[in-house]
Amino acid sequence: MTSLPQPRDGEIHVFCIDLTRQLPELSRFTQLLSPDETARATRLKIDSVKKLYTAGRGILRIILGAYLGVEPGRVMIATGEHGKPYLADAAKGIRFNLSHSRDVLVLAVSSALEVGIDIESIDADKPLQEMAKLAFSHHDQHYLLSLPTPQRYITSFYRCWVRTEACLKASGRGFSPLDASIAPSSFSEEKDLLTVCCNQTNWHILDLPVPPGYCAALAVEAGIPPQIVRVSEESLKALL
Ligand SMILES: CC(C)(COP(=O)(O)OP(=O)(O)OC[C@H]1O[C@@H](n2cnc3c(N)ncnc32)[C@H](O)[C@@H]1OP(=O)(O)O)[C@@H](O)C(=O)NCCC(=O)NCCS
Repeated sequence: MTSLPQPRDGEIHVFCIDLTRQLPELSRFTQLLSPDETARATRLKIDSVKKLYTAGRGILRIILGAYLGVEPGRVMIATGEHGKPYLADAAKGIRFNLSHSRDVLVLAVSSALEVGIDIESIDADKPLQEMAKLAFSHHDQHYLLSLPTPQRYITSFYRCWVRTEACLKASGRGFSPLDASIAPSSFSEEKDLLTVCCNQTNWHILDLPVPPGYCAALAVEAGIPPQIVRVSEESLKALL
């Protein structure tokens, strides 16, 4: 079994995986799922969605197993009150969070620091201004409306969206559109590293490089300066 070195203090290992390229190995991934995961896959009606979910879960288990030094099928994934998955085996302090959009899955892994990650495929046909009214602070809405071109609006909207969602996912709480605890924060600033307060905790927010047509961000508990370590496709291939 291949093993992965534990992330050092402040390091966040980030995986970006094109799930369609992994589908030839689907039958192997299927065998790694827990009974709950298998039941969830069975409930998914759309075949392509079922396949992507199964591949994603199998790959998640292989990666987490490599950090923990256990067989993928034996990784114990529990779920928090609001649905955030975590490792029941707290021995190594590994934290993780994942997000998927269309065919792409992103996964963040850290030691001890809580993380949240979000990826979205960019879709200019969605009612972005309506969505901004529901989800963003007045400050962020004003900023977006001040942008000179529709293209800048779209790009900044998605950056603001994934940053907000990464932050909410890091805190592990569900999302409610009028959550006053996030309204004062600004997620639209043109900075590489933001620090925002969300649900009484300070979070560092970083934008992530992802394939064209997608937008992604990472939130990590503030403290040590965060350092993103991108896991290369070669390392991933060796692992899978
Ligand atoms: C999970 C949630 C927090 C995000 O959902 P999403 O953006 O549709 O989906 P993502 O692909 O980014 O994330 C889903 C993954 O996050 C994880 N997750 C589930 N609940 C979570 C929670 N409360 N906190 C953190 N992570 C969670 C799971 O691993 C899940 O994938 P899985 O079910 O395959 O294991 C969703 O419950 C939610 O509340 N969405 C609100 C969307 C919204 O309106 N956002 C506006 C703010 S900008």
